[in-house]
Amino acid sequence: MDKITVVGAGNVGATAAQRVAEKELARQVVLIDIAEGVPQGKGLDQFQSAPIEGFDSRVIGTNGYEESAGSGIYIVTAGIARKPGMSRDDLLTTNAGIVRQVSENIARVSPDAIIIMVSNPLDVMSYVAMKASGFPRERVIGMAGVLDTARYRAFLAMELDVSVEDIQAMVLGGHGDTMVPLVSYTTVSGIPVTQLMARDRLDAIVDRTRNGGAEIVKFLKTGSAYYAPSAGAVQMAEAIVKDKKRILPCAAWLQGEYGMNDLFLGVPVKLGRNGMEGIIEVELTDEERAALQKSAEAVLEPMALV
Ligand code: NAI
Ligand code: 2OP
Repeated sequence: MDKITVVGAGNVGATAAQRVAEKELARQVVLIDIAEGVPQGKGLDQFQSAPIEGFDSRVIGTNGYEESAGSGIYIVTAGIARKPGMSRDDLLTTNAGIVRQVSENIARVSPDAIIIMVSNPLDVMSYVAMKASGFPRERVIGMAGVLDTARYRAFLAMELDVSVEDIQAMVLGGHGDTMVPLVSYTTVSGIPVTQLMARDRLDAIVDRTRNGGAEIVKFLKTGSAYYAPSAGAVQMAEAIVKDKKRILPCAAWLQGEYGMNDLFLGVPVKLGRNGMEGIIEVELTDEERAALQKSAEAVLEPMALV
């Protein structure tokens, strides 16, 4: 791909830009932020690692959108974190304003781009981006399921003392504590995980996964996770750039799938050069279906505020 742009040069955005460059997913990587000097400095610093790491993707930073014109993919991480005295709704409104402005700019300079949304609250911000850009649902995809699934896989690998690569799993639903890890589809090299682990241990891991973001915030105190989140967004970008047709859990705009309409929710998505190329409807147990419905309700409520 010629150009990939990352909007927001903070923790997630800057790390994502570095990962995109190291994987040489695009000839040029553009980092955009409103903070003067920050994207320029980080972009230059990253390109100065190129001779050492051996990549030829050129990284540049800027405060405007013109240099990003013609990008095939935008990874959007712009936003603010919740500050003391600020309600969840205040955060929602502030980030919605930022994501709206970012998405309008993307549509203006790169009308054919694909947006990978990362900013929180993820499912609602994906909706704001789709509305503001006017892009079809195939070209606005939210990153959360890949991260939540990676956390679940990591915890299972730690517990079972096996390779992370051998754990297949899928976490669906909204990006919050109502997310739905699908235990019935969790296997270790094809072996159902329930044959390898006692139910109470598995339940504890599911619970830890649901609180995976909060666990990191508790350690860091001044920010949230960014190594795994940036890896998640870049895995999605790679699937698109290389037209891999990967099936990954992503937030997609539902139009009848899973019996739901008009909301972004984490579901298994096929990712290829056209973005979201399909939604896979898997069979769910009654319990999983009810949990997905509950998760949808948790997304619909804040969606009504933007
Ligand atoms: P951060 O605070 O380190 O970076 C955010 C950056 O956005 C800052 O550099 C800020 O200057 C910039 N920004 C603010 N307004 C802007 C605008 N109008 N245009 C361009 N840039 C703007 O935050 P961090 O840790 O990088 O997180 C970014 C977002 O990603 C947050 O909303 C966070 O909650 C979310 N997140 C989502 C995850 C997911 O699974 N979907 C996982 C991790 C983080
Ligand atoms: C996370 O799950 C904060 O959404 C972010 O780490």
